[in-house]
Amino acid sequence: MTSEIKSAYLAAKGFTEPLLKELNGAVAVHGQLVLSSQPARKAHWAQNIWENPVVLEIDSINDAANKLKSLQRNWCLYSHTLHRRAKLILEKLPPVNSKPLSFPPSLPQVPPGTFTLLDENTLLASTKCSSPFPNGEAHFVEDKKGPPNRAYLKLYEALTLTGMMPQAGEFCIDVGGSPGGWAWVIQQCGAEVLSIDRSPLSQSVAELKGISFQKRDAFTLLPEEFEERPIDWLFSDVVCYPDKLYEWILKWVESGICKNFVCTIKFKGEPDLAIADKFAAIPDSRVLHLFHNKNELTWLKPGGPGSKGNEK
Ligand SMILES: C[S@@+](CC[C@H](N)C(=O)[O-])C[C@H]1O[C@@H](n2cnc3c(N)ncnc32)[C@H](O)[C@@H]1O
Repeated sequence: MTSEIKSAYLAAKGFTEPLLKELNGAVAVHGQLVLSSQPARKAHWAQNIWENPVVLEIDSINDAANKLKSLQRNWCLYSHTLHRRAKLILEKLPPVNSKPLSFPPSLPQVPPGTFTLLDENTLLASTKCSSPFPNGEAHFVEDKKGPPNRAYLKLYEALTLTGMMPQAGEFCIDVGGSPGGWAWVIQQCGAEVLSIDRSPLSQSVAELKGISFQKRDAFTLLPEEFEERPIDWLFSDVVCYPDKLYEWILKWVESGICKNFVCTIKFKGEPDLAIADKFAAIPDSRVLHLFHNKNELTWLKPGGPGSKGNEK
């Protein structure tokens, strides 16, 4: 079986089932790691994708560490079995910084490779993983005082993955913005933000310079209102049916008025793979499950016309 492994996908925690539905050619599941006989492809529910993993026969912990070091320096471990043996191998490898990241983080140029033990004498290892975060886990230094909730971590992660931040002088719209975790992040980046929600912002966020608020239904907001004022970023974290968000967001994409988009696609019960594919089919965009996402996906479209870059 090991000879046919061409890719591996680490499912977001609790989302192995939707990942399996997305993939063809799954040959085995080890914990959250799905092994596939097909070449690597995009998968919304994968937290980390391993390209061309290699199978290494090992006869000792030292042998395992030497074989990994001969491939590259930086490794992280996905441990689902034989935890102690796997940890001893990891300890023989050069140290890799695993501290929480300060936002905005500077990420390594090359994501770390990842290995796992399939059994006592067999390692699976990939030097080419999709996520810049070890095992796709984006751990940030937390701010317990500024933001009113933990939603800010989701935006930290999304912005880190786009490689772009709202800048001083930029104008952002934040729909479904209450109580204000995302508005707080955008304001901290130095940009101006108009937050829209049916519920108010928390007072501490509402009082911050550069944040304004309108109490209204987000879906009544249309590009025509902003013809005089181009929008640098449109953020949405509205709880709504994905189809409704899709119809609304298409109007904004087609208007060309907005450069960058970050939107959460929220599911009730079983995730709808077809709508996720519809979002992903919007040119120059992608859909992924962030480490900080729950039963939801994030649609990212960075770098539209006139933007300063589209690094990822
Ligand atoms: C997950 S919360 C947003 C959290 C927010 N992003 C933050 O960082 O604090 C979802 C929000 O969507 C809002 N919402 C749901 N439907 C809406 C609509 N049609 N128009 C405006 N806001 C809506 C809810 O009132 C709720 O505040």
